[in-house]
Amino acid sequence: MSIRRTKIREALDKDGDGAEMTLMGWVRNIRPQKNRTFIHLNDGSTIQHAQVVADPSLDNYEAVLRMGVGSSVAVQGRWVESAGRGQKSELIADRIVIVGEADAEKYPLQPKRHSFEFLREIAHLRTRTNTFGAVFRIRGALARATHDFFGDRGFVYVHSPILTGSDCEGAGEMFQVTTMDLAAVPKTPAGQVDFGRDFFGKQAGLTVSGQLEAELMALGLGDVYTFGPTFRAENSNTARHLSEFWMVEPEMAFCDLEDDIDLAEDYLRALVSDVLHHHEDDLAFLEKNVSKGLVAELERCVDRRFARVSYQDVLRIMESSGRRFEFPVTWGMDLQTEHERFLCEEHFKGPVVVYNYPKESKAFYMRVNDDDKTVAAMDVLLPRVGEIIGGSQREERYDVLERRMAEFGLSQDDYRWYLDTRRFGTVPHAGFGLGFGRAVQYATGMANIRDAVPFPRAPRNLEF
Ligand code: 4AD
Ligand code: MG
Repeated sequence: MSIRRTKIREALDKDGDGAEMTLMGWVRNIRPQKNRTFIHLNDGSTIQHAQVVADPSLDNYEAVLRMGVGSSVAVQGRWVESAGRGQKSELIADRIVIVGEADAEKYPLQPKRHSFEFLREIAHLRTRTNTFGAVFRIRGALARATHDFFGDRGFVYVHSPILTGSDCEGAGEMFQVTTMDLAAVPKTPAGQVDFGRDFFGKQAGLTVSGQLEAELMALGLGDVYTFGPTFRAENSNTARHLSEFWMVEPEMAFCDLEDDIDLAEDYLRALVSDVLHHHEDDLAFLEKNVSKGLVAELERCVDRRFARVSYQDVLRIMESSGRRFEFPVTWGMDLQTEHERFLCEEHFKGPVVVYNYPKESKAFYMRVNDDDKTVAAMDVLLPRVGEIIGGSQREERYDVLERRMAEFGLSQDDYRWYLDTRRFGTVPHAGFGLGFGRAVQYATGMANIRDAVPFPRAPRNLEF
């Protein structure tokens, strides 16, 4: 549109001095009264609506009265002080162009409260609600805060590939990528799938993590980070798992586990404080309508150091708590949701970093500690969302890494490039991965990760 459009966010910052302006947006509410009609307009730039006053002198007043909630309009008028309560200023309309009409009867978003489950079914329209407007503005802000944080510290933003031949986490959760005709898959004489005849000449998948490539880059560039989509074909239908999610993965050369934890803590704090300082009205809305206590919790996260406790001590704390856990507390177990909640919500009442995990329960690349029982791994756990970050110091000793890969049954041939970085000028290095969807959950108070991403992908779920 050739007319200069003022964003509602900008308009609301201005005094109502009668200046001409044009607002464009979607109608959230229409209240016809005897001599005029009040229209609430939202354009996504802020959670606040602009009030438009339409009076019968408009040529198309009848059409304006008939248009439904959800219609899109361009309103040219004067921005004046409002006589009514509820807003400081309002737009007295001189001209209203109905850009795209919506049939109010059929429009799925009525001006009332809808359940998040219902809104997930109409995810193509839910960005027009207050809640999802707030969530996606905050999601965008967290992405920007991520680039600011790492950029300010001299990290190089690198892109790791999405198509890969290696399962970084070794959990066998890779989606396969193929161009083979599934009805006539080529077989080897031994009767196995002949991936040699597939597109890449080998078995390929969607990456579960950009870490291995980030390591290669860090061992030349020093400090790097990746921020991109990752995929997991695990069949878990939980409120914090997705099949496709974005991960932020910093990797640092000349760095040990403690430096890694320090960075994770600083980064999380930077994310939360960005939201607290720049998204007050979205947060106020979420606090009131979605998650009571959200702001206080975010403030605690920024104000206090995170608790740091070894895996061994976590077991001791849980054993001596006198609590009966559904999953018994034994050396080697993975921390389950109930354990994470107990630690963050009851025992430490805030974020917790757990480090030095049993080596059997973790991936091949983690550095083996001197006790030969544990690896230099760490997870950051948060109240409500549980594990948000997983990271480690990496095994930089060639011979130890070789041995570990053999234990995990990994072929040295496949990982020749990974081993090379340890063969030539190896250095201690460390990094972590932050689940971006879970960070959005934490910052917005949304209980389900499917409501923290615009179009969630999960088992049996691939709409839009
Ligand atoms: O703990 P994970 O599996 O660690 C890694 O992938 C490492 N390679 C990262 C690294 O060191 N560079 O995953 C990291 C984080 C988790 O802590 C969690 O927040 C998130 O990614 N995550 C998921 N988020 C949504 N849906 C899933 N299915 C997720 N799986 C992991
Ligand atoms: Mg993990």
